[in-house]
Amino acid sequence: MGNYQIIATAAMGLEALVAKEVRSLGYECEVENGKVIYSGDESAIARSNLWLRTADRIKIKVGEFKAYTFDELFEKTKALPWEKFLPEDAEFPVIGKSVKSKLFSVSDCQAIVKKAVVERMKKYYKRNSWFEENGAFYRIEIALLKDVATITIDASGQGLHKRGYRIDQGEAPLKETLAAALVMLTNWKADSPFIDPFCGSGTIPIEAAMIGQNIAPGFNREFVSEGWNWISSKVWDDARMEAEDLAKYDQPIDITGTDIDHRMVKIAQENAIEAGFADILQFKQMQVRDISTSKEYGVIVGNPPYGERLGEKKAVEQMYKEMGQAFGKLETWSIYILTSNEEFEQFYGKPATKKRKLFNGFIRTDLYQYWGKKPPRQNEMMK
Ligand SMILES: C[S@@+](CC[C@H](N)C(=O)[O-])C[C@H]1O[C@@H](n2cnc3c(N)ncnc32)[C@H](O)[C@@H]1O
Repeated sequence: MGNYQIIATAAMGLEALVAKEVRSLGYECEVENGKVIYSGDESAIARSNLWLRTADRIKIKVGEFKAYTFDELFEKTKALPWEKFLPEDAEFPVIGKSVKSKLFSVSDCQAIVKKAVVERMKKYYKRNSWFEENGAFYRIEIALLKDVATITIDASGQGLHKRGYRIDQGEAPLKETLAAALVMLTNWKADSPFIDPFCGSGTIPIEAAMIGQNIAPGFNREFVSEGWNWISSKVWDDARMEAEDLAKYDQPIDITGTDIDHRMVKIAQENAIEAGFADILQFKQMQVRDISTSKEYGVIVGNPPYGERLGEKKAVEQMYKEMGQAFGKLETWSIYILTSNEEFEQFYGKPATKKRKLFNGFIRTDLYQYWGKKPPRQNEMMK
């Protein structure tokens, strides 16, 4: 087994959650802006891809160095052990980005890195001709930040938010990684009720179900690194077997998604079927103001419209008011609402217990948290 520097990339604000997930997989890690860094063997690469719910991608760090000139970038890239990662027939496109660095022309940096890798490979594989690049896919990235070049290979392929269950969506679907993060930021336990009153295409209920039953989010998809010759199929089989063993398919869950739009309810149902939760999740057409329940100690997580579109603001603010009135009756429930509306608490009618800044794509939002009453302790209940 080898030892690799692994980077789990994270959306702004989600780094700590990704780090928590990495630690619970058993890897010590360091947190930087937008990424969590750790080392591990081939199975760490497979397990990270399969299990991390809130990370965007898994990348393998090939090298990191200062680069102020193109010559430096070329020589230091050529000095990296590319033959450890790339077989002779590898397809290896290079993408790039540059922030606050002397080398700001991304296309030139990409071309130089490509040339340096080819030079190294020609020498190692004793070739004079071009490489056909008709084998497995290794996407190299050169990322420059303040003149430090980090060179990685993407081990995920499609982003980790692509779980494989979304067959249709509404206008503003939540990214699966953010939906999972919202659920993980609550105090929800699988044996308590859960409602998403703005379920749209069902992302939050589906992610909650996967969390509740401890199902690996990547279980139903493939990863580009499954095609790499230095990660054996046994590593992937073992990782999938572990996921199968840890899944709690029998864990009862009580998750409901509701939405004002019956078309969205239908889409949510279809996505839930695709995710394998046909009989487990309930979806209903309903306005948020009509939500009421006699169940106790549940959790509501909602991503309502933000009222940013022209002409929508007043109606959304009225809806926030009605939501506050409906949820005000649920004293034992904890409520978590994600919105960019800075006056949300005023319309809702109550200051939040806590707010947490999060980015929904490029939109700055807050997760307004209203913590419900705690359940009485066992001995108090017996008094
Ligand atoms: C931002 S989208 C939610 C997207 C969802 N999280 C997803 O991943 O697909 C907001 C949803 O709220 C619904 N909605 C708008 N007003 C509502 C109301 N008064 N009651 C219930 N749902 C409402 C819309 O139909 C829309 O599907």
